[in-house]
Amino acid sequence: MTDPLNVVILAAGKGTRMKSDLPKVLHPLAGRPLLAHVLAAADALAPARICVVYGHGGDALPRTIGRADLAWARQEPQLGTGHAVQQALPHLDDAALCLILYGDVPLTRVETLREMALIAGQGAVALLTARLANPAGYGRIVRDAGGRVQRIVEHKDASAEELAIDEVNTGILCLPVARLAHWLARLRNDNAQGEYYLTDIIAMAVQDGVQVIPCHPGAEWEVLGINSRQQLAELERVHQREIAHALMAEGVTLIDPARIDVRGELRCGRDVLIDVNAVFEGRVTLGDGARVGAHCVLKDVDVAAGVEIKPFCHIEGARIGANAVIGPYARIRPGSVLDEEVHIGNFVELKNSQVGFNSKINHLSYVGDASVGRKVNIGAGTITCNYDGANKHRTVIEDEAFIGSDTQLVAPVTVGRGATLGAGTTLTRDAPAGELTLARARQVTVPGWQRPIKAARDKP
Ligand code: UD1
Ligand code: CA
Repeated sequence: MTDPLNVVILAAGKGTRMKSDLPKVLHPLAGRPLLAHVLAAADALAPARICVVYGHGGDALPRTIGRADLAWARQEPQLGTGHAVQQALPHLDDAALCLILYGDVPLTRVETLREMALIAGQGAVALLTARLANPAGYGRIVRDAGGRVQRIVEHKDASAEELAIDEVNTGILCLPVARLAHWLARLRNDNAQGEYYLTDIIAMAVQDGVQVIPCHPGAEWEVLGINSRQQLAELERVHQREIAHALMAEGVTLIDPARIDVRGELRCGRDVLIDVNAVFEGRVTLGDGARVGAHCVLKDVDVAAGVEIKPFCHIEGARIGANAVIGPYARIRPGSVLDEEVHIGNFVELKNSQVGFNSKINHLSYVGDASVGRKVNIGAGTITCNYDGANKHRTVIEDEAFIGSDTQLVAPVTVGRGATLGAGTTLTRDAPAGELTLARARQVTVPGWQRPIKAARDKP
């Protein structure tokens, strides 16, 4: 049996350098708040409890995260990381292990944390450390001649000799709750910052003969924290690069792995191709052989096999059937369901509409709240007038209908199976199946008509 795990996430700090009204840990990375990334890593460890220590930004944090299963400990005022963990103590189980994470360190891999929990399970303190080319600002790991960790000294309290140490404290550690509680009670704030340093418990552990075992992340980005918008942007690119590499490893072709943004979950079939500057939000699936052109934005879209999405399309909340061809410059809005082999061309907007097998809407049209059957051809400049100023109405276009160019369909209205609408029709009543219907002024030619002639003006 392994010990139950309690996770404490420190997120009370100010985040001054973000210069933001939004609490730092709510700033998004890959479309999700920093804190949501940390929570996801915590969740993956299946802990018995998660306690978030918050303070700065007040109740915006619990409100935005909106999870009833979390414990929230308010730290007010913020007297240091040790003081922060003290606030969480009442929520922790004495028999558990405690993993301490930072709300502003979003990308720590679950495997790294799992390894730390295993070490702490043997009664030791697992401490995540890293060697950094530039260790400035971090707490330094002081080891004895035998290489055993002795204590952590904060940058502001360090001697010149200690400042030369390049092994830093990432802040992440894991240890038995009972020991943590014992040491936290003994913290003092007689240091350069007048704070209760969580890091002081390392020297206490050594004093009490408890082993401190350093662990190391597989990659440096796992332990990078966010203090400024520049660091946030840098970590975003690092994270996107990792996502891009994972996609390519699964067999996706990315024309440029440095120019893709996945802000959510992207699942791809075999031989998918994604051109530059595509943005994926929410849950997107791309079936086998699907192609996404340059500069497309897809949010919550299900794309079937063989679909080609040409450049500059914006697609949200839609299902696209196999072998459909979309764009360039198409906008497909929520509630749209396209069957196989549908063609949607340039400057076409679809909303809350079903389009049947092999139907074509190729140019400059608005189709909203419509049911379009199979093998329908909708000509250029067609508009479903779905809104009367108060309510929305549906347009039904049955199989194999042909809608002439520049037609307005004033909903509610139905175009029967195989019907043809003449170009320029404003349809206000149902069009019968199989017939030609048109509604437009008759063409006249005025014999002998002459253009007016410009009146001559007197010369000055
Ligand atoms: C801390 C560590 C330092 C380590 C560094 C890694 C201490 C004393 N120092 O320093 O050894 O190298 O992190 O980034 O622990 N927080 C609270 N309440 C507080 C203070 C902080 O919740 O009263 C939270 C912050 O929101 C943040 C985390 O704790 O998520 C770290 O705080 P920060 O002020 O960034 O710590 P550092 O001084 O950088
Ligand atoms: Ca910090």
